[in-house]
Amino acid sequence: ALVRRHTFVVENTPYTRLCSTKNILTVNGQFPGPTLYVNKGDTMIVDVYNKANYNITIHWHGVKQPRNPWSDGPEYITQCPIRSGERFSQKIILSDEEGTLWWHAHSDWSRATVHGAVVIYPNHSKGSGYPFPKPHADVPIIFSEWWKKDIVEVYNEFRRTGIDPNISDAYTINGQPGHLYPCSKSDTYKLTVDQDKTYLLRLINAAVEDILFFAIANHQLTVVGTDGSYTKPFKTDYITISPGQTIDVLLQTNQPPSHYYMAARVYSSADGVDFDNTTTTALLQYNIGNNSTTPPSNPTLPYLPFYNDTKASVNFTGKLRSLANEDHPIHVPVNISSKLIFTVSVNTFPCANDSCLGPTRLSASMNNISFSLPSTDILKAYYNNISGVYGSQFPSKPPLVFNFTAEDPPTYLNTPKKGTEVKVVKYNSTVEIVLQGTNLLAGTDHPMHLHGYSFYVVGWGFGNFDKEKDPLGYNLVDPPLQNTIAVPKNGWAAIRFKASNPGVWFMHCHLDRHQTWGMDMAFIVKNGQGPDAQMLPPPSYMPSC
Ligand code: C2O
Ligand code: CU
Repeated sequence: ALVRRHTFVVENTPYTRLCSTKNILTVNGQFPGPTLYVNKGDTMIVDVYNKANYNITIHWHGVKQPRNPWSDGPEYITQCPIRSGERFSQKIILSDEEGTLWWHAHSDWSRATVHGAVVIYPNHSKGSGYPFPKPHADVPIIFSEWWKKDIVEVYNEFRRTGIDPNISDAYTINGQPGHLYPCSKSDTYKLTVDQDKTYLLRLINAAVEDILFFAIANHQLTVVGTDGSYTKPFKTDYITISPGQTIDVLLQTNQPPSHYYMAARVYSSADGVDFDNTTTTALLQYNIGNNSTTPPSNPTLPYLPFYNDTKASVNFTGKLRSLANEDHPIHVPVNISSKLIFTVSVNTFPCANDSCLGPTRLSASMNNISFSLPSTDILKAYYNNISGVYGSQFPSKPPLVFNFTAEDPPTYLNTPKKGTEVKVVKYNSTVEIVLQGTNLLAGTDHPMHLHGYSFYVVGWGFGNFDKEKDPLGYNLVDPPLQNTIAVPKNGWAAIRFKASNPGVWFMHCHLDRHQTWGMDMAFIVKNGQGPDAQMLPPPSYMPSC
């Protein structure tokens, strides 16, 4: 395996979208940021220079970083922010990941513009290529959101008012809003292709607040991977992709040479919440040979499910399966030593004396604890035995049993406790977590993401998890291996992993408003016996708080 070195300069760069120009935080001046190419098992050293006027951290989403939480990146969880003028050198250790992952800022909402793709090729020298014919070319397709306002202002206003944030002004594909938005037509992202070839599209949802549907007019897609692992191939007309998730698809350019729209728009199951009904487009442009006709000037839009079509959303997600073959075996834990149930809820706090609008401010919680970021990072506190930074009382189950999805849940449950509680688990214990969505204040899908691990999604369903019946339907044969799972609205998802990676690992909703409101927790996975079961020592320099 190789060690590859990169330099990331975080800086303010002017960008023009939707007829107006603003400064955005970028890496090396690029939006979306640079794509990193590696082979399976490589290590990257990334020197991050903060030349912006704003604290930053960088997270390598989906990279497990075995025994090395020091470079994982979430601020106040594994490190203090990199302050303006400082440098932090991060060591990114890849292990079994293969396919597509990504990197993004993990500090306030800077990830709106600070993100990019990580492309992980198979390790050909070990004789294992793709589990499908080698594609003609591969292309990262990154979805994100654009606000005309400065994202820091959007964030601050969101914090102050205690209500939902301003919805974005555009969705983008590879940084461009596309034909349907003002002042955007000439810059629309174009993917130029040859006819009768296979392209590997590496789809990444970097949007801050929304799950998205995506499709390409007149073309079916073959799904072959998600979250840095391969899946059993299947054909589909559209995909659903959660913030944090990546999906690899093969595109056969088997249509008449012309141009076709690819398009993405929001999927939202929340009731009565403003949604953004706009559509971002890009062009799939065939190279025109001699014998082709001139393409129509107005390509057609692909069919996309309606914005609140929960069935369409889960129909897609429920089809993901691990390859589970000889070359790509699976290791689903069977005897579970740690059975956990975590509720994921949107709640409220009394507004009290602060400046929020209305009598309450929105919040969110897991097991009725609304996570507060500490003022120094949990990892350092754990490693150096500093007390008073976090507690170890994160409950294994919600504090009381009630009907999570009842229409009128007891209102006192709407006010969670604030806390910085972690769940401590033993090295190599086998963990099952049932993530239960609740209807406490409002039900919606929650794309839950775990750092430091991939997990098997062994089951999911609507309504309340039934601990007698539902496990009987678990898929232990070929469950998909993911790092982000959208817990369906007022439903549940069951995930399993073996706690073989010692360290401090964040778990949170990847909708940033929920993350900021407190839909987070952290695991501390203890060291095991022997040097290979212990956290690596910290690097010689870590930013300080
Ligand atoms: Cu994609 Cu905690 O992050
Ligand atoms: Cu959420």
